[in-house]
Amino acid sequence: MTDTTKDRVVIFDTTLRDGEQSPGATMTHDEKLEIAELLDDMGVDIIEAGFPIASEGDFRAVSEIAERSKNSVICGLARANFNDIDRCYEAVKKAAQPRIHTFIGTSPLHRAIPNLTMDEMAVKIEETVTHARNLCDNVQWSPMDATRTEWDYLCRVVEIAIKAGATTINIPDTVGYTAPRESADLIKRLIETVPGADEVVFATHCHNDLGMATANALAAVEGGARQIECTINGLGERAGNTALEEVVMALKVRGDIMPFETGIDTKKIMHISRRVAAVSGFPVQFNKAIVGKNAFAHESGIHQDGMLKNAETFEIMRPEDVGLSGTSLPLGKHSGRAALRDKLRQLGVDVGDNQLKDIFVRFKDLADRKKEVYDEDILALVTATNTDA
Ligand code: KIV
Ligand code: ZN
Repeated sequence: MTDTTKDRVVIFDTTLRDGEQSPGATMTHDEKLEIAELLDDMGVDIIEAGFPIASEGDFRAVSEIAERSKNSVICGLARANFNDIDRCYEAVKKAAQPRIHTFIGTSPLHRAIPNLTMDEMAVKIEETVTHARNLCDNVQWSPMDATRTEWDYLCRVVEIAIKAGATTINIPDTVGYTAPRESADLIKRLIETVPGADEVVFATHCHNDLGMATANALAAVEGGARQIECTINGLGERAGNTALEEVVMALKVRGDIMPFETGIDTKKIMHISRRVAAVSGFPVQFNKAIVGKNAFAHESGIHQDGMLKNAETFEIMRPEDVGLSGTSLPLGKHSGRAALRDKLRQLGVDVGDNQLKDIFVRFKDLADRKKEVYDEDILALVTATNTDA
């Protein structure tokens, strides 16, 4: 149900484009279709399905995703030239809601690559955005490396893109250089300064080189951005992109201080996270926020005891809300008697206080020698105490 007290933030997922650009993360055609279907199904507003000019395979994947999408806008990436833009439109045009995303690097370092002056680049932006808009009503434009682009020039090119017909202006922190306060200020000042800014949606696209991608994206929303670009598991070039699961759950859990909502069905997060890890070949680190193996696991005795009494003691969100069946209390050398008793109950083993004491002593001894103690180990300890009794 829509909460009218909250502003809607649009989720733009680029797992299949920026995520796949991660060295070694290439997905097959069928894998891309599968991930696109899961994204569509979980409520992602816009799927950036690929970079159609990059290869014949990418073109085919984007076209097929466009044809099959049910709810999401399907977007393709294009550099600032007519060839790229035409190819991109060819690929997305069968979608019920197609989008062309065209970009050019606007910072001094990026302008030096095509060796364009500021004026020459401004003309190119005007021409390419106009061309894209003549093909498609929904056009996103990005000044790549926006966070290292001179302020005056950034305002100038954003204004040109808006006048040429861009409907979304994305402000990429291409190299993960910005910091949260700066990220919020940049969007806020652009919206206040650039003529026509109130007629378009501002987007934030953050990379994680300094580990600040999620914080920067959320700060940008506080500054006025209403589209977050992100990927599942934070997959992406170098240290990755803003992780979808992190921004979505942060907005859900901390709606008290960030009154924004997304259309994501959070219960589908864990499944898609596992599928993206499997098809990209990029495992999720154990302690990764939201989707890591340990994100809802507690081994120490104090934590397990607290969790058994009241789950809110050590969990700020419910594991069920991200698609897990529950909290896990793995048994290890830090575990206490309460968790052992709970485990025995789950295994259907009824023991008296004396036998519990005995099992606990043996369990601690085993746990000192083993990283994790499994159900089979516990059952073996029960049998041993039965036999010795
Ligand atoms: O990081 C970046 O600047 C990009 C652009 C293509 C939007 O991915
Ligand atoms: Zn990027």
